[in-house]
Amino acid sequence: MALLGCGVVGTQVIRLMHEQAGDLAARIGAPLELAGVAVRRLGRKRDVAVGPELLTTDAEALVTRADVDIVIEVIGGIEPARSLIVAALSGGKSVVTANKALLAEDGASLYEAARQGGGDLYFEASVAGAIPLLRPLRESLAGDHVKRVLGIVNGTTNYILDKMDTTGASFTDALEEAQTLGYAEADPTADVEGFDAAAKAAILAGLAYHSRVTAAEVHREGITEITATDVASAKDMGYVIKLLAICARSEDGRSFGVRVHPAMIPRSHPLAGVREAYNAVFVEAESAGQLMFYGKGAGGAPTASAVLGDLVAVARNRLAGTRGPDESTYADLAVHPMGET
Ligand code: HSE
Repeated sequence: MALLGCGVVGTQVIRLMHEQAGDLAARIGAPLELAGVAVRRLGRKRDVAVGPELLTTDAEALVTRADVDIVIEVIGGIEPARSLIVAALSGGKSVVTANKALLAEDGASLYEAARQGGGDLYFEASVAGAIPLLRPLRESLAGDHVKRVLGIVNGTTNYILDKMDTTGASFTDALEEAQTLGYAEADPTADVEGFDAAAKAAILAGLAYHSRVTAAEVHREGITEITATDVASAKDMGYVIKLLAICARSEDGRSFGVRVHPAMIPRSHPLAGVREAYNAVFVEAESAGQLMFYGKGAGGAPTASAVLGDLVAVARNRLAGTRGPDESTYADLAVHPMGET
């Protein structure tokens, strides 16, 4: 296998692969061998022991090498990630990615490349970090009808809103704290304006409704306009303000809406108790009823846990000569442009 990217998540993936090599080999049925790690600069000091002979700046050559059958992509962003993933999938390799922005912008190209190449495309780490959420939506609930998905899927904004709620802090002070703790994206605009949550909402809705949804189809509002006074007034009335990703199927079941915006929720709702940078997703399905998923939505080790879970699954599939679910064969429902249902 090959790893693309050796940042916060990539280093944790390597560490866990080393530390758990024996267990992973036993669970998969064969040892995992790291054939190479694509990085931007070779000389940089890294937080993990990785043999210099494994490092390369030539990611394109790495993903097409004959001895690489699984590619893990944790570079993020649209390019070069898209070209590298498509090249790997088209060459018949399986891909594990945490790339929410790419899946939400152009998941269709990735699914199509996976279908043509015959490999797997797994992306559990792309939404809500460590929380097992996409596999349940994609597989466990495949025989049900999902009615609604309500999620706190951005840790940074939840941290900010929680700090404003519990300490009366201003938006700016709370954001600074979230950045210091390392929750925010490199450019926090993606967090506070709701772009990160919108990408995750698009992925969730696509899986929940077996459809294609892009981030551009998600109605989006961020939290930059929320003041300490708004938060205090909501608190006085018994509510808490949360940035929610909402996917909802229409009554007739033929369409659905996807939106991200701040919402006042009663303090008695299970999502109201989600503190600090935690994520939680509430799913309502016709037969399963109400389900709640909760845990760490960001950070190197939690995200690496989800990546490794996918890695075990795709490695087992390759050994067994099978494939995971193929989204490209599912039927489309209509997405309502304003996020309404
Ligand atoms: N910036 C993101 C968050 C990281 O705060 O949730 C995980 O996607």
